[in-house]
This record gives sequence, structure tokens and C-alpha cells, in this order.
Amino acid sequence: MAPSVFDSIADLREAVGAWRKDGLTVALVPTMGALHEGHMALVRAARAHGGRTVVSLFVNPSQFAPDEDFGLYPRNPADDLAKLAEAGVEAAFMPPTNAIYPPGFATTVRVEGVTDGLEGASRPHFFDGVATVVTKLLLQCLPDVALFGEKDYQQLVAVRRLVADLDIPCRIEAAPTVRDDDGLALSSRNAYLSAEERRAAPRLYEVLSWMAAALSEGGTSAEAVANGTAALEGAGFARIDYLAVCNAETLAPVERVTAPARVLAAVWLGETRLIDNVPVIPVG
Ligand code: PAF
Repeated sequence: MAPSVFDSIADLREAVGAWRKDGLTVALVPTMGALHEGHMALVRAARAHGGRTVVSLFVNPSQFAPDEDFGLYPRNPADDLAKLAEAGVEAAFMPPTNAIYPPGFATTVRVEGVTDGLEGASRPHFFDGVATVVTKLLLQCLPDVALFGEKDYQQLVAVRRLVADLDIPCRIEAAPTVRDDDGLALSSRNAYLSAEERRAAPRLYEVLSWMAAALSEGGTSAEAVANGTAALEGAGFARIDYLAVCNAETLAPVERVTAPARVLAAVWLGETRLIDNVPVIPVG
């Protein structure tokens, strides 16, 4: 059955309120649409909670800088709704921009610390936009649980922080990154890659994976990052915004991995910026 489509906050809240009265729990999957298997894995995890699932589809202008791809970002609402219908999702929330940012809107949610480096350093506007819209979506829907992918690992950490800091009564659940058979992390932006770039792109995951193996065996971050940088440059990644080894919870840089960590990278293939990350589990 096709999901009910809500474009107003009041209508969404009324539906969620009715489900709650019936004793049902509510799971939210926030997305910017252009749904791929990575999103659908989150949707399946949301459905597994057994209550009602809401998927928001909103390309959030405030997380794009003026020179970024807001205008080009893929938008396929008909395809998205067909996928949600097939997955058995009950509701799609598709607010117009002025429902999220009405005239006079003047509030920004800023998460400090965990957003300072990595994406935050390369894209200074990004986390204010994400934190503001995610806070709004959580307060608009008031779900019991909201699901985020580990692909955007720093975003996940920032969302956990804001939910804890603002006492938003919602559990945050993470789902592992979904990859193509050759290892490339699924992303709506993969559609921008030329055929040649698409062939080179899986090298990113390969390099992060061998860096993680070296680190978990006691290698230093400095050595892993130096070798990883050389390998990425050799594979045609013309620009590296960052390649870093960080504590998995605080995202503070680590020199040796003695607690769960993550190797995180943002790199460019031509005009396309790819991000990815992998876990590092210390051995022994
Ligand atoms: O990860 C995304 O798709 C977006 O950053 C999110 C969480 C939906 C906020 O716009």
C-alpha cells in the first residue's frame, strides 16, 4: 500500500498522535530522498520495530553552502514513494521548504566539539544545517526511535550529542554502511561519478580497510595516514579533504588505537566529493 504523504506538520502530528493512542510506537528515518539501498536498510530496521514508520524526504537547503550542489542534488519523489510503498512504510513526510523554514526563521542548533574537525572543518556550514533540521524533524514527528547510517559517521555522533543535550525523548539507532559489491559505500552523490571515476571509487574503501587492519595491529596513525594518503593519491583521488583516525565516540584524533576508533576520509574524484569511514577494533 502507498504511504500516506504528509506535507504539513499539523497533519503529521495528528497521525502520529492517533498511532500513539492505539499503543503503537513510531520510528523515523530522516532522509533527503533519492533513496538507495542504504536508506532502505534503515527503513527495514525501522520497520523491524513493529510499530509505524515515517520516512522524511526533505532536501535541506541550510546544510549546503552556496557553492555546493543543492540545485543539482538528485530528486526522485515518485521513485522514492514507490520504494517506500514496496517496503510497507506507512507515512512519508515531505514538507515544503517554508514549512521547515517559515518567514522570520531565526534559530540555529549548533553542536560543538564533535563537529569541529573532519566534515566540520571542510564544510563549516554543514553541521549547523543538519543539527537544526534534525532537531526540527524529531520535534515535529516525536518518534520513539530515529535511524541514521554509519556512512555519515560524524553526523551520527553529532545527532546523538544533540539528542542527549536537548533532552529529546528519542532513541538514536545506527545502521552499518551499505556497500556495492566492489566496496563503494552507497550514496546519492555516486550518481555524479563518470564511468572511469566509478571504477576508481572503490579504492577508497580498500585503502581505509587496510589502514584499519594496520592500526588494529598496533601501527601508528601517522604511519597509516601517510601510507593511505600516498595510496589514495596514486589511485587518482586528486584532493583529500581529510584522512584521519579518531576515537569512535568523541572523534578526537588518536595516535594509536587502544579503544574503538574510526578511520574517516573525504576525498575528491573529479568534481565529486566522497566520504567513507570504517571501524578499527584494537586487538588484545
Ligand atoms: O543524512 C542525510 O540525508 C541528511 O543529512 C539528514 C540527516 C536527512 C538531514 O537533512
